[in-house]
Amino acid sequence: MSSFNIDKFVRPHLKDLVPYSSARDDFKGAASVYLDANENPFDNGLNRYPDPHQSELKKVLSRIKNIPAQNIFIGNGSDEAIDLLFRAFCEPGKDNIITLPPTYGMYKVSAKINNVVVKEVLLDEFFDIDVEKTIAAIDPSTKLIFLCSPNNPTGNSLSRAAIKKILASFNGLVVVDEAYIDFSSLPSLTEWIQEFRNLVVLQTLSKAWGLASARIGLCLASEPVVNVLNKIKPPYNISGPDQQQALQALGNEISMKERVEQIKTQREWLNNELKQNSESWVLGSIHPEANFSVGLRSLNANRNPINFLSECWHKLGGTQSKKTKLPKTVLPNYIWHQKRKKPPSSFLKPKRRLAKKIFSL
Ligand SMILES: Cc1ncc(COP(=O)(O)O)c(C=O)c1O
Repeated sequence: MSSFNIDKFVRPHLKDLVPYSSARDDFKGAASVYLDANENPFDNGLNRYPDPHQSELKKVLSRIKNIPAQNIFIGNGSDEAIDLLFRAFCEPGKDNIITLPPTYGMYKVSAKINNVVVKEVLLDEFFDIDVEKTIAAIDPSTKLIFLCSPNNPTGNSLSRAAIKKILASFNGLVVVDEAYIDFSSLPSLTEWIQEFRNLVVLQTLSKAWGLASARIGLCLASEPVVNVLNKIKPPYNISGPDQQQALQALGNEISMKERVEQIKTQREWLNNELKQNSESWVLGSIHPEANFSVGLRSLNANRNPINFLSECWHKLGGTQSKKTKLPKTVLPNYIWHQKRKKPPSSFLKPKRRLAKKIFSL
């Protein structure tokens, strides 16, 4: 069992930090005159600072996510939460983190920004966790392990048994990024937070809730972890309009669920199409669990994920276009290892017609 201890784990200089106390921390409630925040008194709907604790939003999220409000940290997108995890727990130039490529690129970028070493342990041939190799990569300076489930860009969920083993064997934080959880057949791992103090679950309103522009990312974790993030965040990290937009969207859970079902139906359709139309698509055991489906073409027989994924496109579901019956938003929005916008001609040759349909070439 992991003996995770937040007091030993947080960066020492933060233990005594007295966080910035904003005007809206000192005074709560409504008044006819406010003199405490040097705001502009003319009411234009935006002249007052927003709630720094996003209390209303947390109340609603607590109900929807079935987790106490004190276990919720809200970041300016999950990307802010990722950055704050580095700032709270990783000593620049000394500590390291583990990521499992192919996976979401921000973990590495955030690590580089914070001058933290990244150890990479490839996912196995089924794009699942290689538990032994991951545990073997842990050293005393390893502070965070990032797991993405369902994973971007492969779209599959990671094995829960494997995640549990890592949680139990690691004395640092295991960050499970569930950006796509609402499209998954599996429940969220938030139900494990009481049991595993070293589990951090990231979620976002950018995907299923369709609020990418509002920048609302959630970090769901044990209270001590949430408290540290709250202590070091910028005071007003979520703007007033964004809090309002989020509250409005969260008020219509039925509409969100309907859209998620539509996207899932299109994902399945696209997945079948890819499987049937080209013998070079090697989807095999990959079960799509996010809001996209993945097409893979192996460059050689070796199933090493890097080679295996050397040409990879994933396609987002969206509104169906009548003319082509293809989701309108089916775009080659991700090309593994290649910065090109269009697939290489070597790929197009065997199945030019399908590729033409999919990539609008
Ligand atoms: C796995 C994963 N996590 C997080 C994000 C970003 O989330 P946010 O918009 O909340 O910053 C993305 C965006 O594509 C993602 O794929």
